[in-house]
Amino acid sequence: MPEDLEVLAIGDRCPSTLDEVLRGRRSIRRYAPRELPDKLVLEILDLARHAPCSMGAQPCCFVVIRTPAALERLAAIKNAFCAADKREAYPAGFLAEAPVVVVVCVERDRAHGRGHENGILAAAHLLLAAHARGLGGTYLTAYQPDDPGLEREIRLLLRLPPDIDPVVVVPLGFPAERPAPKRLRPLSSLIHNEIFGEPAQE
Ligand SMILES: Cc1cc2nc3c(=O)[nH]c(=O)nc-3n(C[C@H](O)[C@H](O)[C@H](O)COP(=O)(O)O)c2cc1C
Repeated sequence: MPEDLEVLAIGDRCPSTLDEVLRGRRSIRRYAPRELPDKLVLEILDLARHAPCSMGAQPCCFVVIRTPAALERLAAIKNAFCAADKREAYPAGFLAEAPVVVVVCVERDRAHGRGHENGILAAAHLLLAAHARGLGGTYLTAYQPDDPGLEREIRLLLRLPPDIDPVVVVPLGFPAERPAPKRLRPLSSLIHNEIFGEPAQE
């Protein structure tokens, strides 16, 4: 890891401010063997639907999966369609261990040609809402432009109608791991002043 990266620590308690939510959210792939109450899932989905959406048309909907057989099938599908270069780094077996997986979908006719963007933003809100409640989750894609097989198999599993597209797979649960501190690229290297390449003003 390059040395010019900033190190961020994560805390154990529930974040209480928006800054803490944004800074503390991490991808969580191990979950405590603890049920996730429906009420909590509902609260998180309620917040996710507040995400920005194209033309205000609210195209997102959510399929909530809890059945072990369906979770195992989804994990197998994700593993089967994982790109070769990601297979080792990102095995998807942990999906089968999550108490709940939400598949963020979009109603194509309501998405104004922006289905993926709508779904991705809703998933981002969902992950932050989950973290704000002390839960952990991870973003996994539900489609691959170069391999329609992933989307096709998810469609079959969830019995999605033809006009509903799966976009993001989000496992949720109480965290059973604490990821190593995250290293971010320095902020100054990401900001350009008026034109690209001009350093940010101090
Ligand atoms: C477009 C996208 C695809 C991702 N795909 C996967 C995936 O297939 N499997 C996985 O475990 N995590 C996946 N992630 C999560 C990233 O690995 C994770 O966000 C990244 O390593 C940064 O870590 P953090 O979320 O803890 O900040 C994905 C994230 C994004 C944004």
